[in-house]
Amino acid sequence: MKTMLITGGAGFIGSHFVRYILNTYRDYRIINLDKLTYAGNLDNLIDIVDSPRYEFVRGDICDAGLVNDLMQRVDLVVNFAAESHVDRSIMGAEEFMKSNALGVYTLLAAARDCGVERFLQVSTDEVYGSLEAGEDPWTEDAPIAPRNPYAVAKAAGDMMARAFAITYGLPVVITRASNNIGGFQYPEKRVPIYIANAIDDIALPVYGAGTAIRDHLYVTDHCEAIDLVLHKGAQGEAYNVGGENEADGLSVAEKILEYLEKPRDLMAHVADRPGHDMRYSLDASKIMALGWKPKYNFEEALRLTVEWYLGNEDWWRKIRDSADYREYYRRQYEDRSADDADRRR
Ligand code: NAD
Ligand code: DAU
Repeated sequence: MKTMLITGGAGFIGSHFVRYILNTYRDYRIINLDKLTYAGNLDNLIDIVDSPRYEFVRGDICDAGLVNDLMQRVDLVVNFAAESHVDRSIMGAEEFMKSNALGVYTLLAAARDCGVERFLQVSTDEVYGSLEAGEDPWTEDAPIAPRNPYAVAKAAGDMMARAFAITYGLPVVITRASNNIGGFQYPEKRVPIYIANAIDDIALPVYGAGTAIRDHLYVTDHCEAIDLVLHKGAQGEAYNVGGENEADGLSVAEKILEYLEKPRDLMAHVADRPGHDMRYSLDASKIMALGWKPKYNFEEALRLTVEWYLGNEDWWRKIRDSADYREYYRRQYEDRSADDADRRR
């Protein structure tokens, strides 16, 4: 039996990964360490909570005492815990610096002191900055050049993980993935906001001209990639995880409206995100050489995601009806433009 510490396992990707590992490895035990911020949600794990191979610990990855205690009991570490939303980091980045930078350091130091077998840092394509149209996709050797507060904090964690591999010989691996979509994604990210708004006939806020490009990855494809890199990746190396699914903002909105049979004029252009990164694009040939490739293209991934939100209205309505969420939505969208993104048709 091996024990894996998964941090941030009550969030979107982390909860999929907890489920994936329990189903894939019958001889693995999981400790899920999660602070349960606004984004952490135990409803995401209802189906596995009674598994004898699963233990939940509520706590902060910045808490060195707690982290050291847990680290004594584990063989493998996968760190998802982070503040993950760019728009919130623009409102204020203190929590981002704590969790995404100091928290990673705290985990790495404990992992070094306890001699864990493997440590995987879940990083992001945002550490590379922004590409212009026509520029080649990033390889793992592209300069780390983050441009927004979230991405800077993630880059600090990414580089610290690499430094621990170089300096202390800690068996670290790093993944840098593109935009994940799928069920259980908190409705502050673009795709779940658009689906929920469209279902309720509320306008879909499109930042700026809607020309920014993102690569999209179905969340279970990301879980498989992390599993592969954790077990087969070369020590100290980073691996891009991209779906080869680039799409701009307008086409994401159009496709969601099309699937839900809603009119195109539900789209509302609003003020752009300050410092908006205009294009992310990954060269994923390094992880593909290890044997990974995405199973879902953009259309399939988006359709599965729309179906999940249609089938799980209770999950997202509970969040959307909460006072905290309403306050966030008001702060984020109310004054964005003359195009009232909250307008009901
Ligand atoms: P999420 O916001 O849905 O979940 C984050 C989880 O971490 C929550 O459960 C939260 O409670 C927990 N958490 C936050 N700070 C913590 C702390 N200090 N201690 C313990 N737990 C804490 O995020 P997500 O979208 O699932 O992203 C997970 C990871 O993957 C993040 O590291 C993110 O940077 C990275 N990532 C996300 C994407 C994406 O498209 N969502 C793409 C690439 C990489
Ligand atoms: O690329 C990986 C990153 O993807 C992860 O590291 C982040 O944790 C994750 O949040 C995501 O970041 P983005 O900023 O790309 O995701 P978001 O859903 O916030 O925005 C996607 C695109 O949609 C981006 O171009 C901004 C735009 N957008 C977003 C929102 C929330 C809109 O046009 N309207 C919106 O309301």
